Amino acid sequence: MGVRFLKIAAVYFLIAVVLGLVMGIIHNFSFTSVHAHLNLLGWVSMALFGLIYCIFPKAGETKLAKTHFWLHNIGLPLMQGVLFVQLVTGNQALVVGTIIGSLLLVLGVVLFVINVLAHIKTSNSIFSGKDISM
Ligand code: HEM
Ligand code: HEM
Repeated sequence: MGVRFLKIAAVYFLIAVVLGLVMGIIHNFSFTSVHAHLNLLGWVSMALFGLIYCIFPKAGETKLAKTHFWLHNIGLPLMQGVLFVQLVTGNQALVVGTIIGSLLLVLGVVLFVINVLAHIKTSNSIFSGKDISM
């Protein structure tokens, strides 16, 4: 799952900075939260998941990692996509979509934590046994 997380993180980075750029150009900061979360949950968090799963392939190959990937990647677009539409239309009823997206994402984070605690060990890092001193 490591490589998949890294690739999708890069795509989120592009979307998030383009949104930030547009916000700056048109001086409309009502989408700041969407921009911040696409950057922080899309780019930063997913790049970290990707790096962790690449450095510890045993954790990256588990069913937990696969389920985590899908919960994050269904939860985040749902949470932020619905919030974006809500900000554009002003339809408060849409908040339920944002809540469902957030819950899926948080569930994914719970699986990530379980996976890290269960499958990350010094002995199964790709650096294990290698001299990486400069
Ligand atoms: C070219 C790249 C970027 C542009 C043009 C940009 C633009 C913006 C703009 C216009 C705002 C709103 C400022 C305001 O409300 O006063 C903002 C807020 C924010 N941006 Fe970016 N941004 C960029 C990259 C990033 C990156 C890479 C991150 C994180 C990794 C990030 C995180 C945030 C956060 C957390 C906020 C909210 C700050 C707050 O709560 O006051 N931005 N950005
Ligand atoms: C499921 C996970 C998360 C949920 C449900 C959530 C929810 C929220 C909410 C409700 C706000 C206030 C929004 C507003 O002012 O319009 C907020 C703001 C913020 N959150 Fe999160 N958050 C989550 C994860 C994160 C993470 C992982 C980070 C950082 C790594 C983060 C960074 C921020 C920042 C910087 C702001 C201020 C943005 C702004 O100025 O609008 N959040 N978050």
